[in-house]
Amino acid sequence: MKKFTRRLLAGVAIVSVPLVALALDEPFRNTVTGEILDLNTAPKEGRDTEAVKKFLETGHNPYNEDATCLPRGEYLYLSSCSGCHGHVAEGKVGPGLNDNYWTYPKNKTDKGLFETIFGGAQGMMGPHNDLQLNETLLVMAWIRHLYTGPVEDAPWLTKEQKASFKPYTLPEGSDHGTIEQASAAPADKCGPMAK
Ligand code: HEC
Repeated sequence: MKKFTRRLLAGVAIVSVPLVALALDEPFRNTVTGEILDLNTAPKEGRDTEAVKKFLETGHNPYNEDATCLPRGEYLYLSSCSGCHGHVAEGKVGPGLNDNYWTYPKNKTDKGLFETIFGGAQGMMGPHNDLQLNETLLVMAWIRHLYTGPVEDAPWLTKEQKASFKPYTLPEGSDHGTIEQASAAPADKCGPMAK
């Protein structure tokens, strides 16, 4: 039992940036070390979009069901990930992300995939906390969209998506994945573009 209690008068800082509030039971953890990830190291922009709020509440990425924002995810993937993971996530120096084999099986879940991208894994897979939280969700939805494996191994697909599933194939020509198409996606639905 404590005989003395000490009172600390703490100043309350008023911050205009929303702190990332997690409603899930389990915190986000580094995929390799298990250390708790501090989501407040992400850029201040893009923390409080509807999609981010929902994801922090449910662990489910709402962009998986919203094709409107896919051009944003594609553009982000091509600028930040395809150099190592391949144009359609077929694998290069980094492993393929478009099949049903995962080095870290938790990447089948949106929460697990988020943790691997945000906190990084081994070797060249560094942390991507330079991306906005909202952008990470956009790029995750694009990775799911690139999937070519069996539907039964894709728990992120809804019943309807499973019924109409077609493995991704690269469209002809180069008229996709451009910054113009990404910028044309509506900011009220897809969140802010990084400057
Ligand atoms: C500099 C190269 C490089 C870049 C850039 C890179 N990765 Fe990786 N990534 C790797 C390597 C190498 C691994 C394997 C690491 C391991 O096994 O721990 C990996 C692993 C992964 C995994 C785990 C795959 C599995 O099978 O479990 C995911 C998911 C992933 N990367 C997503 C991304 C995303 C999304 C981006 C872009 C935001 C990205 N990576 C950018 C090199 C890279």
